[in-house]
Amino acid sequence: MAEQYRLKRWLIFTEDSVTSTQKWVRERVSALSDRTVILAGVQTAGRGRSGRAWKSPGGGFYASFLLKPSPPIALAPCVSLLAAVMLARLLKRQGIPASVKWPNDVIVHEKKVAGIIAEAGSFPESWFILGIGVNLTESPLIPARKFLPAGSWMEFGDAPAPADLLEKFLMEFDSCWKNREDNPMDGIIAELDSILWRKGGQVTLSEGENTFHGVVRQIDGNGSLVLLTDSGERRFVSGELLTVPGERGKDD
Ligand code: BTN
Repeated sequence: MAEQYRLKRWLIFTEDSVTSTQKWVRERVSALSDRTVILAGVQTAGRGRSGRAWKSPGGGFYASFLLKPSPPIALAPCVSLLAAVMLARLLKRQGIPASVKWPNDVIVHEKKVAGIIAEAGSFPESWFILGIGVNLTESPLIPARKFLPAGSWMEFGDAPAPADLLEKFLMEFDSCWKNREDNPMDGIIAELDSILWRKGGQVTLSEGENTFHGVVRQIDGNGSLVLLTDSGERRFVSGELLTVPGERGKDD
């Protein structure tokens, strides 16, 4: 049975264990109101991006945030980036040098500490669910993954309790994005630029069946990645940055 409490404008539900906080919200989306959060102690079937699993043992941070109605869909990548920058800000406040790897991973010393997923729909009314997973005490990403290895907050400093992290996160999130009609990028573009993973460095980007090479220029106001490629500047709305040049983008 979920417990609940209020945190400013947010209603927080807590559960010891769920399959996935994304699924928890999705199943109740008609009944829940705007600014509802579910924070779970464990997930038995946590979901990552691109159909991957997100292993979720006890001690980690697993939360999903419902916005209803959904912000304009063009802003979806910006909301995820806002969340990544807010997490990086909290890590940096503890002296931990966090960066944001496009599209929205939080990285410390070349290890992935947090991942973010966003899902949206329009039935019975528009909704947007932002899911955030932070490795606080363990680094449980699936080992076959050919991306950055996982790291945990505790490897680099004192890890907060999940409920404390939620409170701090929401304070930052709300203070940076006060009006739903505004583009959240407006308040974070300079900060994001200063902590952008591999900025000025050569990267390989996998987008569907295609692979691109280029130098990271910036993330633009729409949340798109700008790469300087041999054929000039290109903007990417989706894709995955690989860690080793030429590496394939699939798990195996
Ligand atoms: C990624 O692949 O990097 C995104 C991972 C997102 C994981 C979080 S944990 C809370 C929420 N519930 C899920 O099932 N997934 C997200």
